[in-house]
Amino acid sequence: MTTAPIQDDKQQTAGVPDEPKARGVSRILITEEEIQREIKAMARELDAEYAEESPLMVGVLTGAVAFMADLVKTMTIPLVIDFMAVSSYGASTKSTGVVRILKDLNDEIEGRRIVVVEDIVDSGLTLQYLLDVLERRNPKDIRVVALVKKDKPDAIDVQVDRIGFTVPDEFVVGYGLDYAGEYRNLPYVAVLDPSVYAAE
Ligand code: IMP
Repeated sequence: MTTAPIQDDKQQTAGVPDEPKARGVSRILITEEEIQREIKAMARELDAEYAEESPLMVGVLTGAVAFMADLVKTMTIPLVIDFMAVSSYGASTKSTGVVRILKDLNDEIEGRRIVVVEDIVDSGLTLQYLLDVLERRNPKDIRVVALVKKDKPDAIDVQVDRIGFTVPDEFVVGYGLDYAGEYRNLPYVAVLDPSVYAAE
């Protein structure tokens, strides 16, 4: 019996020959290799900064899960992990500016050194809200690391101490970033084909 070859809907990306491309993705902006290299650099910096005092790494759910996991696995100092969830865009590609806490931290943070781990800073509204909430709890200090920041002229001026990559003002997915809950598992950051959300 002959078995038909399994149909693969993955294509190759122009300019990134070895990077498979998932359905709906039009262009890979940041490759897996580039992400991992940048995370190593960030981890070394954080190791040096927090060598004396174990930081509380606060991941912002759900988008920061991939970044948080890789970052903390690359760090070598003692640290504590916690997560916060705030309301997201749902199935939209635009920020509503309305932010709510859906899941709070497990412990008090007074006197602690906090590292906020964000997937992406777009308008900056979510991060600003989060920082206001955390600052009211009197931590020792707060540092913000974001994997991606959008090059957006009308974004608010919010504290971001370390940015992995700056991307154009387009809707991106992958490496934790979603569209309607999907694409988070891609190991790279890519631009979604506008046809995917054309019906919006
Ligand atoms: P901001 O409040 O506009 O800065 O948006 C912050 C949140 O919106 C991020 O933490 C993401 O969850 C989501 N977000 C913003 N831009 C994108 C994008 O291009 N792709 C996927 N999610 C995004």
